[in-house]
Amino acid sequence: SAERSEEVGYSSPDRGTRVKVYGRVHRFRGQKEVLFVELRDGYGYMQCVLTGPLARTYDALTLTRETSMMIKGEMRELLPGKEAPNDREMHADYFEIIGKAPGGEDAITNRVQAKGDAQTLLDMRHLVLRGETGSAVMLIRDAVEHAFNTKYHELGYVKVSPPALVQTQVEGGSTLFDMAYYNERAYLTQSSQLYLETALPFAGNCYCIEKSFRAEKSLTRRHLSEYTHVEAELDFITFDDLLAHLEDLICGVLELVLGNPRIAPMLQTLNPDFTMPERPFKRMKYTDAITWLNEHEIPNEEGQPHAFGDDIAEAAERRMTDIINRPIFLTHFPAEIKAFYMQKDEKDPRVTESVDCLMPGVGEIVGGSMRIWDYEELMAAYEREGIGAEPYYWYTDQRRYGSSPHGGYGLGLERFLAWLCKQHTVRDTCFYPRYMGRCKP
Ligand code: 4AD
Ligand code: MG
Repeated sequence: SAERSEEVGYSSPDRGTRVKVYGRVHRFRGQKEVLFVELRDGYGYMQCVLTGPLARTYDALTLTRETSMMIKGEMRELLPGKEAPNDREMHADYFEIIGKAPGGEDAITNRVQAKGDAQTLLDMRHLVLRGETGSAVMLIRDAVEHAFNTKYHELGYVKVSPPALVQTQVEGGSTLFDMAYYNERAYLTQSSQLYLETALPFAGNCYCIEKSFRAEKSLTRRHLSEYTHVEAELDFITFDDLLAHLEDLICGVLELVLGNPRIAPMLQTLNPDFTMPERPFKRMKYTDAITWLNEHEIPNEEGQPHAFGDDIAEAAERRMTDIINRPIFLTHFPAEIKAFYMQKDEKDPRVTESVDCLMPGVGEIVGGSMRIWDYEELMAAYEREGIGAEPYYWYTDQRRYGSSPHGGYGLGLERFLAWLCKQHTVRDTCFYPRYMGRCKP
């Protein structure tokens, strides 16, 4: 909290420094003549000690959690054996209540934690986020998003902002949200990929961090209806270049985040066992994964051994990743289980130059591929997928006006965070989760 005090004209909160802090009562406890108030302001937590007449005022005696207040005082060193956030405390000589909270049973931090059921927690997310875990995940999320932007700009990538309202599907018709758009139909975008590809000729390598929308009809711990999608597109590359870039990006972002002195301690609390992934990431072809799953007697969705062409379902994928217990680039998926736009492998046309990046505890966090760059091949792919080429004219045109070997990927920010912050579900790594059956608060 004290850091904020600079904004109101006080210097850094060293011992003896006078500070004035604004925040909300995170917790408090009274002890005879002393009231310890832990103030939270989003930047941090500060213990403020109210003593003597100050602790006996009406406002002090009726203090409640989440009440907002201003406290003035002097920073003091902690007595040996005492504990407070950041090993510092402020001895107050003045305070003002700004907005009182109801306290008691209504103080969410008490009520929700007592009840503890997931739906109540989600209904009350606006207050749950004030808790230590909720707020730490949100602050880490901000740092991670910032790190992606930093890393991309270091690499010279240009950020673009593709539309959310579109008339083309990317990842199959079954998860499309469609809507009335004046007197036409439109969809909420499933991925910005196709638009990003059109930026290559004017921007070069490019990226975006936008929302993607999926009408997922099953409830899992890693599917949302609305999620934040970090997507990039790279021009004049090979599949190996794509994998090398992804590894560099993920590790670069982690280094920035772990090197952030404000964020690193929060990560240490949430995920004490986290270690930087070893490079290079393990590479595993889809066919080898099928063999691996059968060797480990992990069946497919029908309870049968896996065969070439099977989808590797969420449960099997996660078990495999947990056993291997390090990041995996799973590559070369069969064309028939992947999206229409994926480039075939020259050496084995049954499979595509595609990659999923799998992380322990979560499974897939990235999906990417090289893109079909031949005009005729793309036309055949629309046909195979059963989608009309007409609405894609602008996408197809990329293959007519100076085509190029290119590729890209999408990374689910909530899944990345679930892995990094060791959270059980992506519902806890976004601000207000949206999934089937929930569109509030
Ligand atoms: O594998 P997906 O569907 O790939 C694409 O959308 C590509 N067009 C991306 C691209 O190449 N530009 O999705 C990419 C990632 C997944 O790996 C996952 O992390 C995340 O997006 N994702 C979801 N996250 C939360 N909820 C959902 N329903 C998600 N669907 C995909
Ligand atoms: Mg995928």
